[in-house]
Amino acid sequence: MPTLAALVTISTLSAQQPAPPTQNEELDVGQLFATTCGWCHSDGGRAAGKGPQLMDTKRDDEFIRNRIKHGKEGAMPAFGVVFSDAQIDEIIKYIRALKPHQG
Ligand code: HEC
Repeated sequence: MPTLAALVTISTLSAQQPAPPTQNEELDVGQLFATTCGWCHSDGGRAAGKGPQLMDTKRDDEFIRNRIKHGKEGAMPAFGVVFSDAQIDEIIKYIRALKPHQG
């Protein structure tokens, strides 16, 4: 049974959810990552912050999906209510495509 605090957290997160992108409009994962994940996963996920570096992760897709959906108690919030599976797929692609800055 979810606690009241958990419910409040969930509704707060949902309220921050931007309008879902339309079919033609591509989800800007870089932007999403910077605003939603960037304060713990620094430099777009290229560097460690409060959370670990995500670039070059050795984790498999299932692990990453699971961590984004369910978070980790006391470490990372769960985003399963905020993002659809398709959006999480895009986030995983984004993480896989991360490269160090040029120059
Ligand atoms: C409040 C800080 C915080 C926020 C916000 C946050 N994370 Fe995390 N994240 C963490 C911490 C801390 C860990 C390490 C958890 C552990 O100990 O396994 C982590 C772990 C992860 C991992 C697993 C990395 C690994 O190698 O174990 C992924 C993937 C990840 N986060 C993605 C995201 C994404 C995507 C977002 C945004 C939707 C996000 N995180 C937002 C703190 C955060």
